[in-house]
Amino acid sequence: MPPATRDLRTPRAARPRRYLMCPPAHFKVTYSINPWMDPDKPVDLPLALAQWEVLRDRYRALGHTVELLDPRPDLPDMVFAANGATVIDGRVLGARFAHPERAAEAEVHRDWFRAHDFTTVREPDHINEGEGDFAVTDSYVLAGRGFRSSPLSHDEAQEFFGRPVIGLDLVDPRYYHLDTALCVLDDRADEIMYYPPAFSPGSRAVLARLFPGALIAKEADAAALGLNAVSDGRNVLIPQGAVGLFDPLRARGYEPIAMDLGELLKGGGSVKCCTQELRP
Ligand code: ARG
Repeated sequence: MPPATRDLRTPRAARPRRYLMCPPAHFKVTYSINPWMDPDKPVDLPLALAQWEVLRDRYRALGHTVELLDPRPDLPDMVFAANGATVIDGRVLGARFAHPERAAEAEVHRDWFRAHDFTTVREPDHINEGEGDFAVTDSYVLAGRGFRSSPLSHDEAQEFFGRPVIGLDLVDPRYYHLDTALCVLDDRADEIMYYPPAFSPGSRAVLARLFPGALIAKEADAAALGLNAVSDGRNVLIPQGAVGLFDPLRARGYEPIAMDLGELLKGGGSVKCCTQELRP
């Protein structure tokens, strides 16, 4: 429901979710495929693990199910599990990564789904980085392109899921995945928050038309990766630096929960990147 027609004092309702995560047991920054990654900056691995465990435990404490993927020593970005597939209506569209460094992750994800009774698992024809570039609202699948996922993957996703896919052009390399610039807050009501300067003028106009009630993020909150958040319909787990979003979220009835994933930020990811949602 757009905020104008909603009683702001009514608390939002969370819906129990099922998430797929991968512990950062072998996380490191040895290559640079986005501007956040600097292989010369040391990563504190025990701290990265501890921060990730807080996120996993918080999901479970909120009543969500967290499934785990086995990390592989040769795939240091596997902690960013959102990129490995997109699951809607129990149908799995596998990933195909843009960079060779991450290519092998796609098969690890597909194997996991096959081993966990997902019967429809597609190996994609075109490059798509899973939920990094696909965001699911009630009416649409929003799809990023420009840095990673191919525009051709958008048609492939539309045909596979049978949902309208809206292509959005990302233009700022810091916001190289859609989930660094846009977050779905209420997936039953088409409510989102996003950072307009990450998008081309035409894509901004499309977003303004489709989501007139969206929460618009400011530069500082986007730069703290504040859009890389996960909402269960009520609780919004959000990078702790995005303080400017907390009050606007509360004003809409959401409960912001600040998360410190500072070590993973060195890989260019935060809450949402670590979390793939398995939609029944
Ligand atoms: N280092 C990873 C990459 O550049 C980070 C991925 C972040 N994931 C995301 N869903 N935005 O591919």
